[in-house]
Amino acid sequence: MSLNRQEIATSLINKHDFKTYAEIGVFVGKNFFPIKAEKKIAIDPDFKFNWFKKLKRAITNASNWNASYYELDSDRFFAEKAKAVFKSRKMGVCLVDGMHEYHYALRDVENALQYMEKNGVIIMHDCNPATPAAASTFSEWEARGFKDNWNGDVWKSILHMRSTRKDLNVFVLDCDFGLGIITKGEPESMLSFTPEEIERLTYADLVKNREAWLNLKPASYFYEHFGLQQSAK
Ligand SMILES: C[S@@+](CC[C@H](N)C(=O)[O-])C[C@H]1O[C@@H](n2cnc3c(N)ncnc32)[C@H](O)[C@@H]1O
Repeated sequence: MSLNRQEIATSLINKHDFKTYAEIGVFVGKNFFPIKAEKKIAIDPDFKFNWFKKLKRAITNASNWNASYYELDSDRFFAEKAKAVFKSRKMGVCLVDGMHEYHYALRDVENALQYMEKNGVIIMHDCNPATPAAASTFSEWEARGFKDNWNGDVWKSILHMRSTRKDLNVFVLDCDFGLGIITKGEPESMLSFTPEEIERLTYADLVKNREAWLNLKPASYFYEHFGLQQSAK
């Protein structure tokens, strides 16, 4: 079955009646604009849309009238804005999809965790690169002219959390380039890497250990885990 980040975010918002959705890394807004939530927050240093598109999207989805846009990188957003933004509301769902590098993605999750509802869910895109090119560094991707999908080494942040965070349950759904699902609570299982060991791992290592290291689950596990009815498609 195919399942994507938008369906997952929507199902969780509906199930828990979450009021607030945030997206780190929004690009043209393909995922952000259709999502319905009382309060939506967009964070990206370089939005690829203008006020006219925002207006058009507000006409087709009323949630977008009340959306807030922060044209900043996520580190600056969390350092300068987050406290005030989340003072009276916490995030129900946060999609982490900004810079696809180990330490950036990890920082985004760690920062977001401070402002999540108790039962809030972080969805992390790009956790399961299918090829060495998809898993390359940013500069290699840049040298290829930003062609094809780039997932970077976000997968290492999954290993990091599964090795160091006894307070988080982390797994990756095998769909949409690997959707990491991070919730507060007891982990199903843990790994025992140090951050230095994770730093040294290569894509070839991941290929040999993908299922175990990522705690990789079939897409349908999403419904089972959250007690949701599978939508008929
Ligand atoms: C893959 S796109 C996001 C796609 C979008 N989430 C979707 O599902 O359609 C990645 C975006 O992350 C943004 N980005 C890069 N570095 C970032 C950072 N440090 N903080 C936040 N966003 C960042 C880029 O400008 C780009 O628009």
